[in-house]
Amino acid sequence: MQEIRTTREMQLASEVARMGGKKICVIPTMGFLHTGHASLIEHARTIGDMVVTTIFVNPAQFGVNEDFERYPRDLQQDEKIAAAAGSDVIFCPETAEMYPEGFKTFVETERVSKILEGRFRPTHFRGVTTVVAKLFNIVKPNAAIFGQKDAQQAFILKQMARDLNFDIEILTSPIVREPDGLAMSSRNVYLSSDERRNATVLYRSLKHAERRIGAGERSVQRLITEMRSMIQDANPTEIDYVSFVRPDMFEETDSITFSSILIALAVRFGKTRLIDNNIVQVGVQVTKS
Ligand code: PAJ
Repeated sequence: MQEIRTTREMQLASEVARMGGKKICVIPTMGFLHTGHASLIEHARTIGDMVVTTIFVNPAQFGVNEDFERYPRDLQQDEKIAAAAGSDVIFCPETAEMYPEGFKTFVETERVSKILEGRFRPTHFRGVTTVVAKLFNIVKPNAAIFGQKDAQQAFILKQMARDLNFDIEILTSPIVREPDGLAMSSRNVYLSSDERRNATVLYRSLKHAERRIGAGERSVQRLITEMRSMIQDANPTEIDYVSFVRPDMFEETDSITFSSILIALAVRFGKTRLIDNNIVQVGVQVTKS
């Protein structure tokens, strides 16, 4: 696996690959790779001839009181995981390479970047869209894959690619979970053992709502109350939100009248903020026999 650190070298490598007719697939990450990231790389392997994993802890997407400084980093381990999952190139620039002195241009997707995560992290998505637009221009991919774990981010990046005419196919990959249901995240290492145990409630609450919808429940208000009460019993520091979202528009809704509904939540355990979500197909009513 090749390691590239400068934007110029990455652009040249991609140019050569494209000239040779290769299809480039990029997996943007902030490193500290886990099985969730590896699943995106494996997915990329099935659609691309050259798989590029980018590793960059992007300061622009962290708020002032967030965890940029202490965000976990382990480049050596990341290289092993990326190589084993099938990455051909790892692009890991320094901050000054991505944001040199005098950097002034930001990309912002309106509206959808202000709800849910955006309400609690007002400048977050502006940082994400900016860095991903830059990575698209540096890696020149034909396709990019993002995790459903960050459903709002994936939606926003598809919107950005469409709005700015990036000729890049944007794909999503399913959430990879620990055996007890906790969604894998680089931030899970922050959790104490008690918090780690309590955090399993997030997936249980999402599955609870799925079962209730399957059994015919259609009141968003009741479902949110039930989910919040389950989560509250697990001793969280704060429930930032539990929301029902129309997946096609990414708009919050208080009714379940669509063929599928996205249930998204963000909860803090101690200093660690976790997000998770579940898309529920709203189909045939299940009746208990
Ligand atoms: P990061 O949190 O490192 O995640 C990189 C990619 O891995 C994202 O597309 C994310 O949705 C996906 N991912 C994370 N955990 C996952 C899991 N358990 N299952 C499946 N996919 C998972 O998201 C970012 O970095 C950044 O915002 C980035 C897009 C790289 C821009 O800086």
